[in-house]
Amino acid sequence: MTKSTIAFPPELLHAEAMSWIASIVELCEPRDVYFCDGSDAEYKHLCAELVKQGTFKPLNEKLRPNSFLAWSDPSDVARVEDRTFICSRRKQDAGPTNNWVNPVEMKKKLSGLFKGCMRGRTLYVVPFSMGPVGSPLSKIGIELSDSPYVAVNMKIMTRMGKNVWMALGQSGEFVQCVHSVGAPLAAGQKDVPWPCNKDEKYIVHYPEERAIWSFGSGYGGNALLGKKCFALRIASAMGRDQGWLAEHMLILKVESPTGEKTYLSAAFPSACGKTNLAMLIPPKEMQGWKVTTLGDDIAWLRPGDDGRLYAINPEAGFFGVAPGTSYKTNPNAMDSIRANTIFTNVALTPEGDVWWEGMTDTPPAQLTDWQGEAWTPDCGRKAAHPNARFTAPAHQCPVIDKDWENPAGVPINAIIFGGRRATTLPLVVQSFNWNFGVYLAATIGSETTAAAAGKVGEVRRDPFAMLPFCGYHMGEYFNHWLQMGRGLSNPPRIFCVNWFRKDANGKFLWPGFGDNMRVLRWVVERVQGKASAVESPLGWMPQYSDLDWSGLNFSAKQFNNIMAVDTEEWKQEMLGHEEFFHKLYDHLPREFGNMRELMLSALWRSPEKWEMLSERYAEEN
Ligand code: OXD
Ligand code: MN
Repeated sequence: MTKSTIAFPPELLHAEAMSWIASIVELCEPRDVYFCDGSDAEYKHLCAELVKQGTFKPLNEKLRPNSFLAWSDPSDVARVEDRTFICSRRKQDAGPTNNWVNPVEMKKKLSGLFKGCMRGRTLYVVPFSMGPVGSPLSKIGIELSDSPYVAVNMKIMTRMGKNVWMALGQSGEFVQCVHSVGAPLAAGQKDVPWPCNKDEKYIVHYPEERAIWSFGSGYGGNALLGKKCFALRIASAMGRDQGWLAEHMLILKVESPTGEKTYLSAAFPSACGKTNLAMLIPPKEMQGWKVTTLGDDIAWLRPGDDGRLYAINPEAGFFGVAPGTSYKTNPNAMDSIRANTIFTNVALTPEGDVWWEGMTDTPPAQLTDWQGEAWTPDCGRKAAHPNARFTAPAHQCPVIDKDWENPAGVPINAIIFGGRRATTLPLVVQSFNWNFGVYLAATIGSETTAAAAGKVGEVRRDPFAMLPFCGYHMGEYFNHWLQMGRGLSNPPRIFCVNWFRKDANGKFLWPGFGDNMRVLRWVVERVQGKASAVESPLGWMPQYSDLDWSGLNFSAKQFNNIMAVDTEEWKQEMLGHEEFFHKLYDHLPREFGNMRELMLSALWRSPEKWEMLSERYAEEN
């Protein structure tokens, strides 16, 4: 295939896009070029090709209609953060929390790797919109990939196809996304079910050029470039330049029994249950409260003319972690994946359905595991990979909000930040104001578990849950948040939550899941000026009587334990903040110094343990 033989579709009128596509064809030397039109017929055809190639196994049409299972190469199962680069022109613009290589050097390296890397393969041209096509809040990308698995996943995860060419017109802006599995085929060479490059992987972002180049992996965020690479890393840099925010946040709506609607967005580090929170089912005793879903992973937030912050979900599907998802933990997610779903790295049942750890209490007697081996419950191996995924259209979610595709977005009333902390952090606190909220969000993190590298219990700071996803200097990012606050006359209120606090025996103090609604109700009622709170060193906190306990046996003493602010723990915590911020010192907002002083003096004025039970305490002071 040469560039002069490319058959461009008639809808594509963008000369710059055409010449860019031609240049990539010349570099990568694919066998042919296929322009995706985004139709259902095309999806069906590509899935059939993937079945022929051995990448997809069709699942039982009765049990899981129009659904497929892929097993990846065991070396290609997750995002590769140590192979992810932000190649801004200046090193200090990437900041100390990102890997950086001089873009000139990186381009030299990549042009060597991409030279002829698609030989024997088809290059799929995937035009996609992040956000509803044509919305003023949306952005367009074009992914050139040699993976049909990527093309079909992009059909679910984005608005993909011909109408994107129409929206692009002759001169619209687009993000260039180039992806190769990095496994060219020699003439006559037989392909493998999951091609990838075991030796070299590069996930590279050029923020100034708005370009992404990904080599060597076919999996998830490494390969579906609309998601983490575009909608977070490149989009965060766009947002800094253009006055908006690209965030690792779910979006949901809470509707009260009297019909008042409150929109919330919430940021949690990966694997903290964002999909579960986004699709929460309130306890049946909290009659009349309803939650609907607008997004489970990414939110783009822009100030509106009315001084409020408006959000869209730039994605069109869910790329959720399967293990742990069940009709107990998240019935709405289970219903979302009943059909038309792509599963990756889960186990296969003898009936041709899927299974993963946590899906049912009792595992099936036999399975084929994610590596294609026979599996029984006593074999000592996991049936599904812990990062196994489902890719499902968002509109299949039974509680999808009617405004989830509203091109104007929805006005966000509250933003919640959460980490995974066994100690120190209370169940919920409302920030005093926007700036203090930015400080709190900058300090969230998760304790490492035995499964992760490093010391157990060590806190890995993950500011705004954006550490792996911020496309520029994290300190600058904090400044951008402060700047955004200055422009909002009616900003969302900011809250911090911690569902993961444990007692001395390592047992979770909070039931979580649907019971998180009790906290959401307080958040909503704070926003509406209806719920009371007391001032603590960390912000405004509910007292026991401020939360709805109907249907849950949770004592005031338990509440006291989960809300306690221990001065000794907080001394350590503040040192931890200091240590983390030290890394970012050259761009750290001046305001953070004031926040710190404020917190320290409040903590030092506190009794040893600031306990929530103490309506007493409030009186004494
Ligand atoms: C994800 C992640 O896949 O955050 O959403 O890692
Ligand atoms: Mn995520």
